[in-house]
Order: sequence, then structure tokens, then C-alpha cells
Amino acid sequence: MNLYDFYSSLGYEPSAAQVVFHDSDARFKVLIAGARFGKSLAASKDVLRDLVCGQTRGWMVGPTFTLARPEYEYVVNDARSRLRLAVSEELNSRRSEHAFVRFANGSEVHCVSASRPETLLGQEVDWMILCEAAHLPRESYERFLRARLTSREGRLIVPTTPRGHNWIKGLYDRGIEPGRAWQSFRFATWDNPRVAAAEIEAARSELPAEVFDEQFGGAFVARAGRVYPEFERAVHVRPVSQSAGTLFWRGVDFGFTNPFVCLWAVLDRDDCLHIVDEYYCAGATLSQHAAEIKRRDETLLAQGLLCAGGVADPSGRVEREELANLGVALWPAENALLAGIDAVRQRLRPRADRTRGLAIDPSCANLVREFEGYCYERPVGQCEPLPGKRDDHCMDALRYLCMSLGRRVDWRGVRLFC
Ligand SMILES: Nc1ncnc2c1ncn2[C@@H]1O[C@H](COP(=O)(O)OP(=O)(O)OP(=O)(O)O)[C@@H](O)[C@H]1O
Ligand SMILES: [Mg+2]
Repeated sequence: MNLYDFYSSLGYEPSAAQVVFHDSDARFKVLIAGARFGKSLAASKDVLRDLVCGQTRGWMVGPTFTLARPEYEYVVNDARSRLRLAVSEELNSRRSEHAFVRFANGSEVHCVSASRPETLLGQEVDWMILCEAAHLPRESYERFLRARLTSREGRLIVPTTPRGHNWIKGLYDRGIEPGRAWQSFRFATWDNPRVAAAEIEAARSELPAEVFDEQFGGAFVARAGRVYPEFERAVHVRPVSQSAGTLFWRGVDFGFTNPFVCLWAVLDRDDCLHIVDEYYCAGATLSQHAAEIKRRDETLLAQGLLCAGGVADPSGRVEREELANLGVALWPAENALLAGIDAVRQRLRPRADRTRGLAIDPSCANLVREFEGYCYERPVGQCEPLPGKRDDHCMDALRYLCMSLGRRVDWRGVRLFC
């Protein structure tokens, strides 16, 4: 019997997103999703195959005993009423925060609490579910739980809604690249077709964007004052392809001791801005920068793209004029800081059709690094925090682009530069 016939026989019809999770044979599976996605249900169904094999031991571990109960009850109820496994021994002690069932086929399921570390010692396990793991201390996993999986090469499932950029993000990052022992999944509440769309839209309109993105979107939202908490490497960084005949723009931030930055961008027909290349260089002259910009322009022109010019820091009139004399045309960009940040955030956030308006080629390493490190700071004597002035060079160049290409461009009206 294949897995899905088995699930069908239990009356479980996984959603398309849950199927993606069940299909994985990775030993360590990190299931990040918004509230009510069906994390607990999917995790508990995933281990039923281990349970029916017999002679296996599994642990449900929660930050508290109560938080591990949903998964535990899903598994034990299925084992009893659907799989009709006979129970040979049972314990249910709220006082000691430990419940377990031993079935006649020799399999055991335990429900334990990370708030009682003594319950986390002593046994080797074949599978483990870390329920609502984002609320577990990292230490519980690293000092107590990981070793339980070693002798039996047990498997691990981590179903949780994210909680800022805490240690769970580190686990998630391990499994972004499939094909290894770790595999990560990230879904939103709306990937559960049983949750009404109107309910999600109501929450979206009521909650602060960051909270909604985390609790419903299943996104890792940093609360430590990141200017672009919506930026996610796994979502926004992907190889970008351009088709011949497409226009490209440059966004430039001037710098002498600080880096001089040029980003190359292409706007596709779905209004997604693709950053296809970056140039990041400190300590060189404008003529050296111009030569490098023209060299990279040539590479894009050779691919059949068309140069539509560029935008740059409006306060750098002298630099713009000198670059224009060297053959690099740039217009003064709109430089309203907060409006520009808003324009970038609009592109980062999921749109109505769940696509994003910004994609970054993996070669743009400085842009990605700045996105993750660009934070608000409170300058001395000021009440309002402002984006820090360190490491904001790619950020500024991108802001100029987003402000200038804010609306869908009328392709017929664009003047071409070479
Ligand atoms: N494939 C499915 N078939 C039937 N019901 C489902 C399915 N997936 C999820 N559900 C239902 O959706 C609801 C949420 O499921 P579950 O408790 O597993 O979600 P969760 O992501 O763990 O939620 P929470 O964030 O509250 O912990 C439950 O009522 C569950 O029965
Ligand atoms: Mg749950």
C-alpha cells in the first residue's frame, strides 16, 4: 500500500502543501507555517508509518506539556481508533508532565515537556516531533534532545510557526537546499484550503504587517529593528533570467572611501524588478567606475537587452556630469528616504497573487548582505529611529531604482541609451 492509500484508509486527505511535506524522505524535516496551516496534523500523520512498523519509540516534545498534546492526541487517537492498535500500557500524568502509550506491536509514543529537562533524558528514540519548536529554548534541543536521536539514527520533525529570527531560523536555513539530511518547508495559513479567505483578509487588515507576515504568512520577521523585515533570502534570492529585447536600468550610489555601487535592474512584464548584477567598489576613480559599468553594460547588451539609462543620488550632480562625459548617463533619482523604503517594502511583500515584486540574482552578494543587516538606529538627540548609515550603499541604489520604476513603465515611451 502506498503512503497516500494508507492515509486515505485513515480518512486523511492532505492538502497540496502537506503532500509536499509528506513526500520528503529527509531525516530532519523543518515545517515552518502560519497558524492553522495543519502543521500538527501533518507532523502527526507523518510518523504513523513509523508507529505501524512496530518496536519504534517516538517523542512529542513541547515547550510545555500542554503544547505537545495536540500532536500526541492526533497520533494516539489514530493509532487506537483508525489503526486499531491494542494498548498494552498507558500513563497520563499532568503532575509529572509525562504521558505515554505502549501498543501491543511494541511501539511507544511519549509526550514530554522541555520545561522538565529530567523527562528528556535516558531513552533513545526513532522519531521526534518538536511541537511549536520556536518556543523551545535552543539549549533543550542542543543539550538534551539531539543526542536522543543518535543511536537509532532517528528522524526529526520540527513543525512550528516562526518567532522572529531565533534559533529555528538556523534549523530552517540548513534545509533550504534540498537533497541533504535536512529539508525545510515554509507555508502560509492560506495554504490550508479549509481556512476561509475572508478570515485571513480580516486578520491582514487588523494586524501590524510584521505580525501578520509571521503568524499567517509563516515568514521569519526580525524584530531587532530591521528596515526590511520582509526580506527573505530563500524567497527573494533566485537565479534571474532576462529575455532579449528587455530594457535594463542602473541604480547608482556614489562613494569614494565608502563603496561606489551600481545595480543593474530589469522590470519584467509582471512588474517584478529583477536585480541582475551588482558592482561594489571602494577607493577607485570615476573613470575606473565608468569603464567597469560600460563593461557590464556590454555583457547585457550582448545578451540582447537594451540599456534604458540609470538613476543616481540627486545630490551628486558633479559625479553625474563627469560620468555622463565618460559615457554613462544617469538621471537624478527621487531621494525621499521613507517613501523610498516604502517602495522597496511594497516589492518585497507578497502580492495578491502571492508573487513578489523583487528578485535578486545570487551573484549580488553585497546587496543580500546589506538587506539582512540594514537596521534602524536612534541618532543621539532624536526621538525617531532612522536607518543606520553603515552598510546602506546597495540599499540606497536599490531605493533609487524602486522610486524611479515605481509604476509600470510604458515601454513605448522609454528613450534608449547605449
Ligand atoms: N488535510 C487536512 N484534512 C482535514 N483537516 C485538516 C487538514 N489539515 C489541517 N486540517 C484542519 O485544520 C485545522 C488546523 O490544523 P492543525 O491543528 O494541525 O494546524 P496547526 O498549523 O498545527 O495550527 P496551530 O497554529 O493552531 O498549532 C484543524 O482543524 C485540522 O483538523
Ligand atoms: Mg499546532
